Amino acid sequence: MENRNRQVLLKRRPTGMPTTADFDVADGPMPDPGDGEALVRGIYLSLDPYMRGRISGVRSYAKPVDIGAVMEGRVVGQVVRSRDLGFREGDYVYGGYGWQLYSAVPAKGLIKLDPNEAPLSTALGVLGMPGLTAYVGLGEIGGPQRGETVVVSAASGAVGAVVGQLARRAGARAVGIAGGADKCRYVEGELGFGACIDHRSADLGAALDRACPNGIDVYWENVGGAVQQAVFPRLNDFGRMVMCGMIAEYNDPTPRPGPNLGAVVRKRLKIQGFIVSDQRHRQAEFRATVAPLVKSGRLKYREDIVDGLDHAPDAFIGLLQGRNFGKLLVRLSDDPTR
Ligand SMILES: NC(=O)c1ccc[n+]([C@@H]2O[C@H](COP(=O)([O-])OP(=O)(O)OC[C@H]3O[C@@H](n4cnc5c(N)ncnc54)[C@H](OP(=O)(O)O)[C@@H]3O)[C@@H](O)[C@H]2O)c1
Repeated sequence: MENRNRQVLLKRRPTGMPTTADFDVADGPMPDPGDGEALVRGIYLSLDPYMRGRISGVRSYAKPVDIGAVMEGRVVGQVVRSRDLGFREGDYVYGGYGWQLYSAVPAKGLIKLDPNEAPLSTALGVLGMPGLTAYVGLGEIGGPQRGETVVVSAASGAVGAVVGQLARRAGARAVGIAGGADKCRYVEGELGFGACIDHRSADLGAALDRACPNGIDVYWENVGGAVQQAVFPRLNDFGRMVMCGMIAEYNDPTPRPGPNLGAVVRKRLKIQGFIVSDQRHRQAEFRATVAPLVKSGRLKYREDIVDGLDHAPDAFIGLLQGRNFGKLLVRLSDDPTR
């Protein structure tokens, strides 16, 4: 075990797109676990779009990260020392202990993982928070029906990839929107969406008309901005818009003018936002449904793994620019199970 703890701290609040100068990467003290705690060495750190909100200083549904504090994040790791009867050295665990190599975590904040059930990293992606987001949002709000058209933005990403595959399993036709030809090829070829449109294409509206000849019944909103502007007028009567996120607007200094919401009335649309953390009680049901699909290969996932905590700030900025291709993770140390 090393005697230093590598950490990424928030140095200042970014204006617009974050830069690496907004973060400090430094050695910190090695944590010492107290009674009822375990010392955990991180293996994978999850980088997620919500982190942009946490560093903005604006209070929303969660508290922002303080200046000088360790960046917040979910980690999969291994117990190296335990002072709690429920955990032993060598146990694999999941918890929210931030952008750092080691952490002393209260046992009640840890969930044990079985690497024989699924690769450890999936607890941060397809079988973790992003997968649960897709599962509950589509089930509760989208409600895709056989033969309907479901459009999914950021379709190759952690949430979008699961949304489209679950929509297909419900008998709907999934149409993806993603950045670039490689991602679109993956969305169509690997994930089996009926079509995928590059959001950088010259006329997004015309491309949507070609890909969705019967209009759009469900729109899974991950990005906002120009994509939302193109999709919104193409929603069918009684369409559903699942408001999951609007990553294209997270770095805007002021809010953009919104769509004309008169159509919500005319078309009897249902638009509903949701936050996955309200749905934690459904994690066991979600895993029981989706883990067998992942294990048998019927539900595919892709990870984009960056090596080393020091690269986390740059990788996070890449996530906000679409550089990641699949669920973005940082490998903090070797995964003994791979
Ligand atoms: N409501 C909730 O509880 C909840 C929970 C989890 C996630 N979310 C939201 O779900 C969305 C997807 O999250 P994720 O974890 O699955 O991330 P992800 O899709 O794995 O990665 C983010 C992707 O967003 C796309 N993107 C970034 N900037 C864009 C822009 N300006 N225009 C269009 N697309 C852009 C990029 O893909 P392309 O290259 O394909 O554009 C990028 O790869 C985010 O908005 C996130 O905030 C919400």
